[in-house]
Amino acid sequence: MMLLVALVVGYLLGSIPFGLLLTRLAGTQDIRTIGSGNIGATNVLRTGRKGLAAATLLGDALKGTVAVLVMAAWGGPQAALAAAVGAFLGHVFPVWLGFKGGKGVATFLGALSGTAWPAGLAFAAIWLGCAWLFRYSSLSALVASAASPLVLLALGRPDAALVFALLAALLWWKHRENIARLRAGAESRIGAKG
Ligand code: G3P
Repeated sequence: MMLLVALVVGYLLGSIPFGLLLTRLAGTQDIRTIGSGNIGATNVLRTGRKGLAAATLLGDALKGTVAVLVMAAWGGPQAALAAAVGAFLGHVFPVWLGFKGGKGVATFLGALSGTAWPAGLAFAAIWLGCAWLFRYSSLSALVASAASPLVLLALGRPDAALVFALLAALLWWKHRENIARLRAGAESRIGAKG
């Protein structure tokens, strides 16, 4: 029962679409008609509003962290993992947007940080390193998410490693168009508007 509660609490928090809400509040064009059409921070950055992109990243990450920490305190480590799954699914498949949500990167990072903060730190370091080298947000997220289960294993958290491996697989699936563009050399680089 507690796992179901954690899934639902996580889902409800995760389904708050910060990118969409913040861009609407700021009165910009519908974010779903800009760039990749995604509701995440990378696409919000394509509006040229860096502050809005940073706020989107923070909101989409923190909802994952809050879900995990609240459910860890209330229901223990298994409930915390269920909340991580719920938050990720809520962001990627929000009922409020006809289940058409984001690609899950910020929420993955937030939930991971709540689960094991050194793993969150490793994700951020890998993302930043890849972004500095190649200037692709999507590629950085793909590499950092794939590395995360290995980091969790190294931290002695096989349970969390399994859960985040499944979430990383879903994150990769949500990036299938980005992967095709990367392979074709047509992916837009960080800082480009299109
Ligand atoms: O956070 C999502 C990022 O990895 C890719 O976003 O808008 O370039 O598809 P986008």
